[in-house]
Amino acid sequence: MLKSVVTTALSALLLIGLPVSAAEPIVIKFSHVVAEDTPKGRGALLFKQLVEQRLGDKVKVEVYPNSTLFGDEDELQALRDGKVQLLAPSLSKFDAYTKQLQVFDLPFLFDDLEAVKRFQKREKSRELLRSMANQDIYGLAYWNNGMKQLSATRALKAPADAKGLNFRIQPSPVLEAQFAQIGASTSKLAFSETLAALQKGTVQGAENPWSNLASQKLDSVQPFITETNHGSLNYMLISNSKFWISIPYQVRTQLEAIIEEVSFKVNQDAEELNRKSREQLVAAGRAQIITLTPEQRDAWREAMRPVWQRFEAEIGADVLRAAQTVNRR
Ligand code: LMR
Repeated sequence: MLKSVVTTALSALLLIGLPVSAAEPIVIKFSHVVAEDTPKGRGALLFKQLVEQRLGDKVKVEVYPNSTLFGDEDELQALRDGKVQLLAPSLSKFDAYTKQLQVFDLPFLFDDLEAVKRFQKREKSRELLRSMANQDIYGLAYWNNGMKQLSATRALKAPADAKGLNFRIQPSPVLEAQFAQIGASTSKLAFSETLAALQKGTVQGAENPWSNLASQKLDSVQPFITETNHGSLNYMLISNSKFWISIPYQVRTQLEAIIEEVSFKVNQDAEELNRKSREQLVAAGRAQIITLTPEQRDAWREAMRPVWQRFEAEIGADVLRAAQTVNRR
């Protein structure tokens, strides 16, 4: 009887990935959906490298890029079930768990990535990291990619040019509303399905930062990219609450120090990496890059801005207000 109770308890711990004895290394599987040469991909590898250097005997990190272990459809559930211990999903993918993170999706809310970073340092943002802790989603840090651009099979200069096109979006009601606002329809598709859907023509447009446009070679199917900088793509580095709290205090503190260091580096390098990806796309010459005059960009902003008010109640007026104060204009 006692033996079976012990065996069951051990199996339960193993199942959720908890360490069963101090001597065994803790295994952290870090799964993500993008290529390795992107801000998130590099961040995952740097985390692995620093953990190996400093905690090699106690913690082992396995990184699975490009949706090879879990993808958008199942990664959050896998984390909650203890099948994977670290993820960094885009903030647009938490709708089932919290509405407040939708603030990051509001079009033209943040002027640039620096404004996003300032907001992430504010108390309201820090609170959002723990807003899903009781659902086994434990936020550890914000990682940023870059500002999003619109791509399509036709040249998008004015909002009316997007009318009738179907855009691939992440599963966010704000993004759905943003495109509805300009007369476009949307399909919520996993990141790993995006290129194929654009190839097949079931969707004709998308929104991505330069690094994802280049690393997924989306310019092979999107002849026009408009430099709108209309929103930002940001991630939350998350673990399973029970798993994270179960890590012995000293090791956890060291892991959190490494995360702080890696997050700083990811967020410092993201803009540069996106700048290089943009250059790569220009050099490849497959897509025409359309830059907007300030007046043209204002027209996009005015067309999409009504979305803010629509989501204010769900997001919380306090969160929205805090976000609005970070622009320098
Ligand atoms: C997307 O689905 O477009 C992004 O969230 C992918 C990513 O993780 O950068």
